[in-house]
Amino acid sequence: MEKTLAIIKPDATERNLIGDIIKMIEMNNFKLKRINSVHMTVSIAEEFYAMHSEKPFFKSLVDYMTSGMVVVLELEKNNAIEDFRKLIGKTNPEDAEEGTIRKKFAIDKSHNSIHGSDSLESANREISILFG
Ligand code: RTP
Ligand code: MG
Repeated sequence: MEKTLAIIKPDATERNLIGDIIKMIEMNNFKLKRINSVHMTVSIAEEFYAMHSEKPFFKSLVDYMTSGMVVVLELEKNNAIEDFRKLIGKTNPEDAEEGTIRKKFAIDKSHNSIHGSDSLESANREISILFG
C-alpha cells in the first residue's frame, strides 16, 4: 500500500467544500489514515513549498496557504500518489479533466482547492512535515 499527502486548501474550506471533497476521495477508494485541521504558519508553508521558492508566485502562494484553515489528509491506496494526482486534475482547473476535484471545485490556478504529492519522495517529505 502506498501513502500520499493531500491538503484541502483555504479556498475550499472557506466555501464549505470539505465534506464534498472527502466524499470524492472516499468514493475513489482512498483510505483516510490520518486527518488534521490546521492554520499553517508562514514557516511551515515556506518549507512545504520550498521547491517553488524562486518562482514569481511564491509569496502569493505562501500568503494564500496561510490565509485560513486547511485540512491535511494522509491517504492510502495501491498506486496512491499517481491515482490521487489523476483524481485532483491539472493545476489550472481550465485544463483539468471532467470528473476531477479541481475541475469541479477550483476557482483558478492559484486557488485550486486541493494539493496532492507528486512523487514518493514528496509524499514522504510532506507527511513528515505535516504529521511529524
Ligand atoms: P500542488 O503542489 O499544490 O498540489 O499543485 P501542483 O503540483 O498542481 O502545482 P505546482 O506547480 O506544484 O504549484 C504549487 C501551487 O502553486 C500555485 N501556483 N500558482 N500563478 C501561478 O502561475 C501558479 N503556479 C502555481 C498553485 O496554487 C499550485 O497548486
Ligand atoms: Mg506541486
